[in-house]
Amino acid sequence: MKTSIAIYPGSFDPVTNGHLDLIERGEKMFDLLIVAVLRNTEKAPLFSVPERVEMLREVTRQWSGVEVEVFDGLLVDYARKRHAGVILRGIRAISDYEYELQMALMNRKLEPRLETVFMLPGETYSYLSSKLVREIAQLGGPLQGLVPPVVEDRLRAKILRSVRKNLSNVRRQNALRGSGQTGATKRRKRATD
Ligand SMILES: Nc1ncnc2c1ncn2[C@@H]1O[C@H](COP(=O)(O)OP(=O)(O)OP(=O)(O)O)[C@@H](O)[C@H]1O
Ligand SMILES: [Mg+2]
Repeated sequence: MKTSIAIYPGSFDPVTNGHLDLIERGEKMFDLLIVAVLRNTEKAPLFSVPERVEMLREVTRQWSGVEVEVFDGLLVDYARKRHAGVILRGIRAISDYEYELQMALMNRKLEPRLETVFMLPGETYSYLSSKLVREIAQLGGPLQGLVPPVVEDRLRAKILRSVRKNLSNVRRQNALRGSGQTGATKRRKRATD
């Protein structure tokens, strides 16, 4: 019997119920499904890579055939290293198709033995993306049904922390203004003391 190892790569910032829908389908299909978090230096992420991995491990704990790892560099190199024959990707709408097609064909050129398998999520998740989730969370909207409860808690905590940080920055600025000292005048004063 052939063992099938598939890699499901993405940024998962954070993992959504759409990702989980795909993981659940993939877990049934492959002997081992490796959810691989891309260490992407281009995007400014909301969650750090360790935070994303921690959340993914927690919400995939019930599946023994699912592993969560971090990877950087070329996906085909990582797939070779893990002896994977399949890349799993999701297609939500036609808008995903063009980019996914380009990636799949390029990966095939780089490694012809590697197959890309596309899956469709349940239709409730076909509009769901991490980007939307981040935006809704930042605007204080409801996240129920979009992400697992543990991710919802982490999102709220993260947003609250950044709001508090902004607030204390504003207070500091106001206090300096009130005392007639901005950061620059304080620095100038210190320099002439
Ligand atoms: N709701 C979903 N249904 C099906 N596939 C999905 C869904 N969300 C993401 N995917 C797929 O999961 C893979 C990893 O995507 P990624 O981590 O970029 O998620 P994303 O939601 O697109 O995040 P972002 O909005 O930050 O780009 C991609 O193949 C993407 O098409
Ligand atoms: Mg995306």
